[in-house]
Amino acid sequence: MRLAILTGGGDCPGLNAVIRAVVRHSVKNYGSEVVGFLEGWRGPMDNMVMPLSLRSTESIINRGGTILRTSRTNPFNTEGGPERIMANMSSNGLDGLIAVGGEDTCGVANRMHKEHGLNVVCIPKTIDNDLSATDFTFGFDTAVNIVAEAIDRLHTTAESHNRVLVCEVMGRNAGWIACYGGIAGGADFILVPERPIVIDDVIEAIKKSHGRGRDYSIVVVAEGAKFADDSLNDNNVERDDFGHEKLGGIGDKLARFIEARTGFETRATTLGHIQRGGSPTAFDRVLATRFGVHAADMAHEEKWGRMVSLKGERVTDVPVEDAVDKLKTLDLSLYKVAEVFFG
Ligand code: F6P
Repeated sequence: MRLAILTGGGDCPGLNAVIRAVVRHSVKNYGSEVVGFLEGWRGPMDNMVMPLSLRSTESIINRGGTILRTSRTNPFNTEGGPERIMANMSSNGLDGLIAVGGEDTCGVANRMHKEHGLNVVCIPKTIDNDLSATDFTFGFDTAVNIVAEAIDRLHTTAESHNRVLVCEVMGRNAGWIACYGGIAGGADFILVPERPIVIDDVIEAIKKSHGRGRDYSIVVVAEGAKFADDSLNDNNVERDDFGHEKLGGIGDKLARFIEARTGFETRATTLGHIQRGGSPTAFDRVLATRFGVHAADMAHEEKWGRMVSLKGERVTDVPVEDAVDKLKTLDLSLYKVAEVFFG
């Protein structure tokens, strides 16, 4: 077979591990050829191709980012975009495509498969862990570890200065990173998009823990969290090619409210793209490798229109439409665990 692979959407640690696994398994065990399309869906649309070999994908399992680069290109926003993709698949003699991405990249793959007959297999990745039909995406574990380490560091400086430190984390409209990272870091309050922010609750919890003699607090807030009082939300935001809000800034706002209402000196830290950078954890390297091997098998079995999925301990596959139907928001039973430690 002759296959292509692309990485789309925000990058995340583990993308190079998945590319390596797809190439190694396809070339070595199936005698197939693999090429890379560069920069997400822009690659197949503009015919940006890069050869991939066993040699060129060696020693990249531990490297962050993606050697294929990425973009948030939506080919359905370009006149003739999907048709150009189909033409480039055929001019490159390709039998199928492996698309590694989150909700947007997989959403495009689903439409390309259904509306244009593209032979495509998807692999779920995103630090946000918000893709349905898989228990976990790779990239998430690394982001959570970065957040946990950052909170550990915030603890010592918060304690030294008797401060409240607010830590803003990514995750878009799902609170997975905030909740996992916050629990692991021992946060005193965690705010997620799934539960509107009631300032009084945050203030009460902080005052309660300070009343017990503790002079500092750590509050974790997800970038997509919104105030219950809508007049406090900023609804005039920029959007990307897929219509997603460009988020950020809630941490600063929250810090100002906390300082004004408690009188405790408060600072905000935004972790931002640090959460997406650097080497993947061992967990993400292994998950990405398992996903890549499974996707190569699926392509060779011509299981088009499906996505690799982790169900419990097992790697399996599901129709890609199951993954993009609905966002996988935070499991609120996990939030209940976090709440035990508030206040
Ligand atoms: O989807 C991954 C993610 O890192 C989100 O958590 C975040 O909101 C967004 O991407 C940031 O996007 P960009 O890299 O385009 O600023």
